[in-house]
Amino acid sequence: MSWVTRNLWDHNAFYHRLLLRRIPASATRVLDVGCGAGVFASKVAARGGRVDAIDRSEVMIAQARRTVPVNVTCILGDILTEPLPAGSYDAIVSVTALHHLPLPQVLPILDRALRPGGVLVAIALPKFDPVRDIPVELAAFLAQRVGTLTFAALRTIGRGSWYARESTHDEMPVLLDPPLTTHQVREQATALLSGARVRRLLFWRYLLVWNKPD
Ligand SMILES: C[S@@+](CC[C@H](N)C(=O)[O-])C[C@H]1O[C@@H](n2cnc3c(N)ncnc32)[C@H](O)[C@@H]1O
Repeated sequence: MSWVTRNLWDHNAFYHRLLLRRIPASATRVLDVGCGAGVFASKVAARGGRVDAIDRSEVMIAQARRTVPVNVTCILGDILTEPLPAGSYDAIVSVTALHHLPLPQVLPILDRALRPGGVLVAIALPKFDPVRDIPVELAAFLAQRVGTLTFAALRTIGRGSWYARESTHDEMPVLLDPPLTTHQVREQATALLSGARVRRLLFWRYLLVWNKPD
């Protein structure tokens, strides 16, 4: 294994703090959509309250059940068909799962599950947009290399794990050919969720935030 491959870092983990900051401190019931091995659900649960973590992959849910704290309920199910309690979540979060899903189907489902005044906050992968994404792609290319060197050095001197990939990373179901550009996600999301905000993040993700009106 080359040095670079060994030291590739987890862009999802890099954005965990950004997502956590968007969850109101008062949120006591949170849903994590496409939770994978439960790493982010565990971080949300560390703030208190209850977290439901859903994923349709048996392998991922089995991994999650091994590690999550007691206030996380792992649900093996498809978000498109799983019956969810209506209007009951203070926050719904999702880390790189929305691009696996048709937005016109999944966003109304999440809207119904969110309580009035609740927040939906998600990152997911956009399709490369040759019209709008060239500057951000160039910046990401350079920043990725700086990050690889910096985080590897910090790990080497024992200054923390610095977005090291989880051991479950290679088993995770991924979709490397996302269907929608950030612009298309914004168009679909704002049509379905009035006031939704979508913006491109540096490291090959978009951020979607929606505050459901009271
Ligand atoms: C790239 S992984 C991300 C996992 C986790 N959120 C993380 O950041 O480590 C995407 C996850 O979404 C899940 N997923 C995709 N479609 C789903 C659906 N319809 N219902 C539930 N989970 C789904 C996959 O099984 C996979 O575990």
